[in-house]
Amino acid sequence: MKLWGGRFEKGTDRIVEEFNASISIDSRMYKQDINGSIAHAKMLGKCGIVDMGEAEIIIAGLLEILNDIEAGKVEFTIEDEDIHMNIERLLIAKIGDIGKKLHTARSRNDQVALDFRMYTKDTIQQVITLLIDLEKTIINKAEENISTIFPGYTHLQKAQPITLSHHFMAYFEMFKRDMERFKDCLKRVDIMPLGSCALAGTSYPLDRYMVADELGFADIAANSIDAVSDRDFAIEFASCCSILMMHLSRFCEEIIIWNSSEFGFIEMDDAYSTGSSIMPQKKNPDVAELIRGKTGRVYGDLITLLTIMKALPLAYNKDMQEDKEAVFDAADTVIACLKVFAPMLSTMRFKDEGIKKSLKDGFLNATDIADYLVNKGVAFRDAHAAVGSMVGYCIKQRKALEDLSIEEFHIFFGGIEADIYDYIELSSCVKRKSIVGGPSQKIVAEAIKKAKAYIDTL
Ligand code: ARG
Repeated sequence: MKLWGGRFEKGTDRIVEEFNASISIDSRMYKQDINGSIAHAKMLGKCGIVDMGEAEIIIAGLLEILNDIEAGKVEFTIEDEDIHMNIERLLIAKIGDIGKKLHTARSRNDQVALDFRMYTKDTIQQVITLLIDLEKTIINKAEENISTIFPGYTHLQKAQPITLSHHFMAYFEMFKRDMERFKDCLKRVDIMPLGSCALAGTSYPLDRYMVADELGFADIAANSIDAVSDRDFAIEFASCCSILMMHLSRFCEEIIIWNSSEFGFIEMDDAYSTGSSIMPQKKNPDVAELIRGKTGRVYGDLITLLTIMKALPLAYNKDMQEDKEAVFDAADTVIACLKVFAPMLSTMRFKDEGIKKSLKDGFLNATDIADYLVNKGVAFRDAHAAVGSMVGYCIKQRKALEDLSIEEFHIFFGGIEADIYDYIELSSCVKRKSIVGGPSQKIVAEAIKKAKAYIDTL
């Protein structure tokens, strides 16, 4: 008979049983479920709701079940629907009638909310650890390339020279915000729902704070209806995952572009590239492409969760059983991507020749000539127009700006002197960008120092 079968005259149709069961998905929360039950049993014993000796037997039984599961000795069944009832059934089979007392003052509604929150908390910790690794990799790359002059782009058109380290540190900032977002999300996940029962709380004198302490929660849920109805913590988690994936996808897209023979900025390590089954010459950036692709999958998980929860009346509804798969998928995907992305990045090699070649054309120093003219007293708008004409002239003459002779410069502005050549050297253009937040080697070195100090606080 079902654990809830008292009022039923017939068994569940097999097709319903299969449809209704979530064990194939939620079995991965077995540890959270058992630890949650242990804390609940301890509290029931301490509060005198079950006999202390019985609580101890329940706890010992649960620990044995945990061992059995980890030793691969347990087969879950769809007859018992989900992880909660599977474990309860295993407990009763193991310790007999005393096991039937565990579910006193508890519902699967607060139980699943608890397990799911514990799972999400664990996952957030894992993601943060991986993000710290990634940030360290980025800092290393930035240090390696502290003075490498690199073309900065807007609209995927060459714009102004920067340091490669500055480009890396831009991603450091993005992933730092991602990390902060996960940490902030954790505050709202870290709320203990048990004691809310089905929706109306309970008349048993539970010690909810004791359970929260046992399980390492920061606080308890303030409203029993909200505690069993709310999945915004899961939505927030998926949203943090989505934003992180969006950042990863941008980095991957750049890596894919840099790796193309047209750009030729990087060489991916063989261990992080793949070949083609037909074209022998190919070495493809599949890992970066897959991460870019998996971003869509994580966005899908977020939309799944938002749509499941949309317009659901309070309190628990079975729709909510669909929430786990989306969170597990988002978590698995983010973790897998972070695990492969960091070593792919650290083994990637920048090709000086490719970068140097690219710096030669594209008039990256045009803005600096305008600044030079401004220093000579020209209004910026007029300087912009004059340099625009110089660029037009260079295009026709197939020259770079630095190839122009002083006489040619004078066609556009008589006040240009020989110091222009030093001034528009790409390295001096970058060196002058020493405003806080800028790309000069000196400023980036400071940013790296700050970044390291930040990582040390984590
Ligand atoms: N397997 C269910 C879920 O994941 C557990 C809660 C079931 N509660 C209920 N009242 N049917 O949502």
